[in-house]
Amino acid sequence: MTNLKRLKVAVTGANGFVGRNLSHLLVAKGLDTLQIVRKRKKIKSGMIIISKNLDEKHLSSKLKGCNAFVHLIGIGRQTTHSSYDEVNVNLTKKAIMLCKEVRIKKIIFISGLGVNKDTTFGYFISKFRAEQEIINSGLDYTIFRASYIIGRNDPLTRTISEQYKKGVITIYGSGKYHLQPIFIDDVVEVIFQSLTDKKFSYKIIDLVGPQIITYLSFIQNFLQGRKVSIKKISFEEAYHQALNNLDSQIGVDDLNILVGDFIGDPKVLKKISHVKFKTYKKALKTSTFS
Ligand SMILES: NC(=O)c1ccc[n+]([C@@H]2O[C@H](COP(=O)([O-])OP(=O)(O)OC[C@H]3O[C@@H](n4cnc5c(N)ncnc54)[C@H](OP(=O)(O)O)[C@@H]3O)[C@@H](O)[C@H]2O)c1
Repeated sequence: MTNLKRLKVAVTGANGFVGRNLSHLLVAKGLDTLQIVRKRKKIKSGMIIISKNLDEKHLSSKLKGCNAFVHLIGIGRQTTHSSYDEVNVNLTKKAIMLCKEVRIKKIIFISGLGVNKDTTFGYFISKFRAEQEIINSGLDYTIFRASYIIGRNDPLTRTISEQYKKGVITIYGSGKYHLQPIFIDDVVEVIFQSLTDKKFSYKIIDLVGPQIITYLSFIQNFLQGRKVSIKKISFEEAYHQALNNLDSQIGVDDLNILVGDFIGDPKVLKKISHVKFKTYKKALKTSTFS
């Protein structure tokens, strides 16, 4: 049994939603936690390492002795100065090179639920290619294919909250497509277990919650009876807005993921983790809105 207190773990994207919550848990559990970020943010505990692109020479000396590398850098929307190839694929390659250079044996990565070799859209293609880099790296890996991760300040409920504040919640198309949200506290506990538990080794695992719901019922549960106008717009209009960035709340690939009806199999996760997964209703109580 590994002595957890002596574990040293590097986390990239540590200022992001999952990275913040994971770093908080690891620090609270007494692990030596190296948070790799582009910019120092005000409230941070644990050791911070500044890196623009995982290329800096100082990184290898700081990462010496690490047992695991949790790679959470990722984007779900491209811009003219930040592409899926550069961020989702190339920074994953650099993460792998770093692991090899400093002999970190374990890498953990969050991909997307629904990613597969036959996919045709950009975000999933980049996640698939990043997965392949990891699988072929020879490192011990755990790849989680995540559905929507819900908690305070998660990207999905933050967008819905912003719409609520503006007085209109938008439903794209019928709203009858499905999601399988998972609570952030459960996610970081699972990642924590995957650091040392060999049951997670060399696996791709669906990171999904215990319930499948439609977007419409998710919105209704999110609102908890609060009154706000709900506007249904056609997919044609939704994609027109997203493509032309007329409504920056939701991008083209956000829509692709939302309406894609991506549902996972929770059995593997339930079997190998020791987590009692919360329902999305309980998770929503901690969301941005509550
Ligand atoms: N949240 C979900 O529901 C969900 C679902 C499926 C998959 N995932 C995946 O899980 C991972 C973590 O998600 P998250 O929700 O924590 O995302 P997030 O809040 O957007 O965080 C992403 C992190 O990536 C960093 N980053 C982006 N572009 C970068 C670049 N060019 N160079 C260096 N760092 C860069 C950001 O740094 P800054 O803080 O400096 O901007 C941020 O800390 C991502 O790979 C995401 O695709 C998340």
